[in-house]
Amino acid sequence: MSNCLLCGSILHTFMSFGKMPVANGFLLPKQFEEEYYFNLGVAFCHRCQMVQLTELVERERMFHENYAYFSSTSTYMANHFSQLAQNVIDRYLNSPAPFVLEIGSNDGIMLQHFMNSGIRHLGVEPSSNVAQVAIGQGVETISDFFDDDLASEIARDYGQIDVILATNVMCHIPDLHSVLVGVKLLLKPKGIFIFEDPYWGDIINKNSYDQIYDEHVFYFSLASISYLIQQYDLELIDIEPQAVHGGSMRYTVAHQGEYSVSDSVTFQRENEIAMQLDQLSTYNTFKRNVEKSASELKALLYKIRSKGERVVGYGATSKSTTVINYCGITPDLVEFISDTTPIKQGKFSPGAHIPIRSHVEFEENYPDYALLFAWNHAAEIMEKEEKFRDFGGKWIFYVPNLEVRS
Ligand code: SAM
Ligand code: TMP
Repeated sequence: MSNCLLCGSILHTFMSFGKMPVANGFLLPKQFEEEYYFNLGVAFCHRCQMVQLTELVERERMFHENYAYFSSTSTYMANHFSQLAQNVIDRYLNSPAPFVLEIGSNDGIMLQHFMNSGIRHLGVEPSSNVAQVAIGQGVETISDFFDDDLASEIARDYGQIDVILATNVMCHIPDLHSVLVGVKLLLKPKGIFIFEDPYWGDIINKNSYDQIYDEHVFYFSLASISYLIQQYDLELIDIEPQAVHGGSMRYTVAHQGEYSVSDSVTFQRENEIAMQLDQLSTYNTFKRNVEKSASELKALLYKIRSKGERVVGYGATSKSTTVINYCGITPDLVEFISDTTPIKQGKFSPGAHIPIRSHVEFEENYPDYALLFAWNHAAEIMEKEEKFRDFGGKWIFYVPNLEVRS
């Protein structure tokens, strides 16, 4: 039994995935023996409604000088961040010398737009290899973990901030209280804090259980975020669903009473009541759906392989680590995983040790089936893989349901 990271109440654990490796821990054979595992379990807090992991992996094991996730590998995400940056510039950066801070700025995918518009900016990014890519492009970056101490240093050295951005990083940080103390301190009186993360309601609705892995400590809803921010005299002024990463939510936050609150907040609150995100029965149904999805996928792979046909994984996503290891997918079932990220190529997937190869190897010897681990980038991938379809290749989707598409 463990306690909520947010409010300290006793948690209700509703699902365990067993032993799991670090999701982005792509490795070489010489590292197989010392591979690190932890118990992947998820729990719900009745009091503050935060869904969270029951066991945490030390942050330095996940975010370091060999971090494998480079945000700029997806052109769809590059467009998404370019639009968000433009939106921020148009709506919120009208003061004489605006200043933007991004938490978890990765390879500079978003901050480069502020830089190119001549706007003062600062990124905070602990994984030094991705931070170096940003710095190399001229994006000002501190390579460190954001917390209240670093926020005090930033306030002292740079001053207060107009807009703080954080995409796909808030849900990675166990000590959210420390982040909120920092945000409260840094935001100018009319300052805005915008963050985006995978949305728990989408994970439930799409049965996208592969979003559950070590880096994702929390699975946010409007209810849990409201509980958190109101403790810091902050207010949610807008909430907007986003199609990216399989269903995300953008939260816009300001100091209490500084802006009017959009109707979207009331609308989303009603949505969550209708989705019964506060009911244990929802969590029990989710668990059953996950178990069914995993056994169907495994049965399909066995069937294909028993006919001697080949399956290759598409996209060595962090999400795939949960699917592969939970379903027990081995290199006998999936020959290799094609991925465009150079740092992953030549390595092996965490846990199951399926080889990761370049996209060239996929094109040179098309398999009968491609198992779409990067299902959240399906639109972009389907558009560029017409040749595979013309060749007669089939796609295996497993979110929201198992489906083979020609
Ligand atoms: N913001 C980018 C995006 O949306 O594509 C990167 C998202 S990536 C999944 C999460 C990033 O957050 C990683 O680059 C990681 O190093 C960084 N990160 C993790 N903990 C952090 C912390 N406490 N402060 C700042 N960044 C952190
Ligand atoms: P993500 O789902 O966490 O964004 O990770 C996507 C992974 O898929 C990343 O390793 C890059 C890879 N990828 C490809 O190999 N080909 C593609 O066309 C896209 C969009 C992503």
